[in-house]
Amino acid sequence: MAMIAAKCPDIDVTVVDPNAARIAAWNSDSLPVYEPGLDEVVRAARGRNLHFHTDVESAVRAGDIVFVCVGTPTKTYGVGAGRAADLRYIESAARMIAELSDGPKIIVEKSTIPVRTAATLLEILRSNSRRGTFEVLSNPEFLAEGTAVADLENPDRILVGGERTPSGENAMATLVDIYARWVPRDRIITTNLWSSELSKLVANAFLAQRISSINSISALCEATGADVDEVANAIGKDSRIGPKFLKASVGFGGSCFQKDILNLVYLCEHFGLPEVAAYWERVVSMNNWQKSRFTQSIVQTLFNTVSGKRVAILGFAFKKDTNDTRESAAIDIARGLLEENATVVVYDPRVSADQIQRDVLGAGRSDPRLLVARSAEEATDGSHGLAVLTEWDEFRTLDYAAIYSRMHKPACVFDGRNILDRRGLEQIGFKYYAIGKPQDE
Ligand code: UGA
Repeated sequence: MAMIAAKCPDIDVTVVDPNAARIAAWNSDSLPVYEPGLDEVVRAARGRNLHFHTDVESAVRAGDIVFVCVGTPTKTYGVGAGRAADLRYIESAARMIAELSDGPKIIVEKSTIPVRTAATLLEILRSNSRRGTFEVLSNPEFLAEGTAVADLENPDRILVGGERTPSGENAMATLVDIYARWVPRDRIITTNLWSSELSKLVANAFLAQRISSINSISALCEATGADVDEVANAIGKDSRIGPKFLKASVGFGGSCFQKDILNLVYLCEHFGLPEVAAYWERVVSMNNWQKSRFTQSIVQTLFNTVSGKRVAILGFAFKKDTNDTRESAAIDIARGLLEENATVVVYDPRVSADQIQRDVLGAGRSDPRLLVARSAEEATDGSHGLAVLTEWDEFRTLDYAAIYSRMHKPACVFDGRNILDRRGLEQIGFKYYAIGKPQDE
């Protein structure tokens, strides 16, 4: 919304949320999410044509176009628990919009939702409103965290789905015209509603599938002496495969990949396609295996026991340049090490100590074996091993010789992102393990 406001000064954009603390943060100098470049975009438009406030009702009443951006978490109860999307926030938003509308409105699904949610939205809107008339559009978002501003400035494509009726086409044209202020028209695709809704889940499923594919090969590399980065480079040169998203890792995280694949799996089962469901579910189980495999490698390298030993985790966010920790592989690794009775000391340049404790242990819990450090040096002091789990740039240039000198010997490095200089570390004296790398070089 900030990008639309920045690009279209003549369009009034109001962002509303009942959470007053969150809105206050959006109105302050420290935004509630860390995202490179976002501060400037917000500052350019805030107070001019970009407003943040808590008066949801008046904003909905006044809006010609309402973007529904509420959460669609995985359902934790009842039918489809653990897989299906929980649509209660979407439904209550639709009921509220229906009640408050007394003219034509375009409702845009921005949240990631299961296919055919627009039908539910339309039914609720049209059967609950006295004077409102509605068009529902699907406009999924493809930005990635950490590069959100660049992705929004220069998207690969914008996708708009709508009903193939004259009023549906009109609504699509209205939204397309907004994006066309800064996105070339040939990158704006219009489709029917169901194609648009499904494309979002499928895009994430394909991206996650590539990571699970290369991660599965990383295990084979370790067993055979091949090097996963060399394999990725060799296959990525094939223009049909392409070089992106082939970085083997300790496992993908983030709020979307796992949730969206499980949602896709649930849909396939719902539509009587168990083979398709099983195919996609393997992408998630391979990711879980990769995380536990990494933990086991730490334990094995440290002479099959980490009990009472200190292991430093460098990086807790699910990727660099974000403070988001949702589904971060670091959570599973930390828990796995605690189960093995290690002392775990975490350092992340952007994630708060509170967040780390909450993610690993649960709200309000503490464990003397889980510590949070304020620097990489503090985290690694007196440790037996250090594991790099997020590819923060600062981890590439640490003074590893100094770090080594203050660790127990043999000191071990576990590179979950393949970002460190193996030769340099081995020269210092470190024992080295990295995802998909030959054990002895
Ligand atoms: C992902 C998609 O890339 C976006 O297109 C999509 O809009 C977004 O989900 C969403 O649905 O909201 P995001 O989760 O922010 O974006 O970040 P990614 O860059 O996709 O990374 C996801 C995870 O995969 C991270 O843990 C990352 O470290 C890991 N990854 C990524 C790898 O392990 N290897 C790779 O080669 C690439």
